[in-house]
Amino acid sequence: MKLDLGSLELGVATAATQIEGGEADTNWHRWAAEGRIKDGSTPERAADHWQRVDEDVALLKELGIGHYRMGLEWARIEPQEGVFDQIAIAHYRDELTKLRAAGIAPLVTLHHFNNPWWLEKQGAWVGRGAITSYLAYVKRVVLELKDLVSEWITINEPNVYATQGYVFGDWPPGEKSLTKAMAVMSHLAEAHIRAFGLIHAISPSARVGVAHHLRVFDPANRYSPVDLAGARTMENLFQSALLDAMSYGRFRLPLRGSPSVKPGCYYDFTGVNYYTRSWVRGGVQGTRPGVPVNDLGWEIYPRGLRRVLRAVNKLYPGPIYVTENGTADASDAFRPRYIYDHLAAIAHSGVNVERYYHWCFTDNWEWIEGEEPRFGLVDLDYETGTRRVKESGKMVADIIAAGGVTDEAYARWVEPAAKGSATYVAPVKVPKRHPKPPRG
Ligand code: FCB
Repeated sequence: MKLDLGSLELGVATAATQIEGGEADTNWHRWAAEGRIKDGSTPERAADHWQRVDEDVALLKELGIGHYRMGLEWARIEPQEGVFDQIAIAHYRDELTKLRAAGIAPLVTLHHFNNPWWLEKQGAWVGRGAITSYLAYVKRVVLELKDLVSEWITINEPNVYATQGYVFGDWPPGEKSLTKAMAVMSHLAEAHIRAFGLIHAISPSARVGVAHHLRVFDPANRYSPVDLAGARTMENLFQSALLDAMSYGRFRLPLRGSPSVKPGCYYDFTGVNYYTRSWVRGGVQGTRPGVPVNDLGWEIYPRGLRRVLRAVNKLYPGPIYVTENGTADASDAFRPRYIYDHLAAIAHSGVNVERYYHWCFTDNWEWIEGEEPRFGLVDLDYETGTRRVKESGKMVADIIAAGGVTDEAYARWVEPAAKGSATYVAPVKVPKRHPKPPRG
C-alpha cells in the first residue's frame, strides 16, 4: 500500500445553493440576477440536484461513498419570516431517508453563505436580530429532521462570509466596512454557540461543529518584522480570534461577545476547510510567486493542511473533520495528485483526523466565479445535466474500497498527474521555520 489511511473515512461535500438549482429568494439569487457573477450565470441551473436526488444518491452509492456533507437552503425552508414550507422540509426528509437507505451518513450544514432575502433586507448578520431568526430556523429544522440527522454544521466559513461580503465587497451585500465585518463575525459566533446548546437540548447525542475556513499565513520574508506582523495580524483577524470565540466562547478584540455568552466548550468536532496559503508582504496578502496553482490561481500547498491540523489539534482537542478540501481543475489533470498529496498530509500529520470530505461531488456553481471553475469528482454538463465520473472520482472510489492508495492506484492516477495548472512552475524551497500561530 502506497498510502494507508488507517481509520480516516472519506466522503464528499456540497452546499445547497451550489448544486440544487431552481428558484429561491436569497441574497445570492438576487446578486446573480443583477448580473454580478463573473460568467453571468445564476444558481438557478447549478447541478439541478433538487430534481436529481435519486440519480445523485445512486451515484454516491455506486462510488462507495459513505459520508455526504450537504446543506439546507434556509430560504426554501422558511421563505417568509416565521412561515415554514412543509413541502421543502419533506423534500429534505426524503433525500436524507434515501441517503441513509443507501448506507450514506449525512453531515448537514444549516447556514452556508446564503440568507433568505427577508433576513438580508433586515441587514442580515450586522444586527443581533439575525441570531434570533437563525435560532428559530434551527429549532424547527432540528425538530423536523433529528431522526435522520445526527451531525450538524451550524455555520460554514463565517470568516469568508464576513470578509467577502463586508471587507472586499465582492459578495453580497458588497460592503466595505471592517466594523460591520467584525459585527457579522461576532454575531455568527454567538449564533453558533447558542445553536450548539439548542441542538443538544433537542437531540442530546448529536455532534455539532463549525466548518472553519483555515489557511496558512506566511510572511514573504520571515526576517521582516513588517511581513511577520502582517501575517500574524491577518491570521488573528481572519481566523484565530473566531476559532477561539466559536469553540470556547472566548471573545477577544476585534470580536465582541454578549455578556450572556459564557466561556465553555462549544464543539463536538472541529471542521476544517482547507484550500490554500496566503503569502503576506507588508499588509498585503497574495500568492507566492512560482508555486503550483489551480485554475483560480490558488496556491496548491498540501503541507499547509498538515500545519493547520497540528495547530487545531493543539488548541482544540477532540475530533477533527476536514469538512472541505479540493481544487479547481477543469482538465482533471492535477486533481488526482492534489488528492493524494492532501491525504498524505493528513496521514503524516500525526493528528487523528476522523473524516475527509472532498469538495465537491459534482461540478458546482461557484459563487462569484459562477459555473467556470470545475471542482467536481464528477463532471457536469450544464446544458444537459449529465454526470460523468472523472478519473479523480474513480480514484477516490478506489481509495475508499482499498482503505488507502494502493501501489496500482498510485501508478495509474497519481504518477501521471501534473502538479498544478498550466501556470505550474517548480516550487521554491519552503522555509523551514514558521511563526507559531497566536495563542488564545
Ligand atoms: C469554500 C466554500 C465552498 C466552495 C469552496 C470552493 O470556501 O465553503 O462553498 O465555494 O470554497
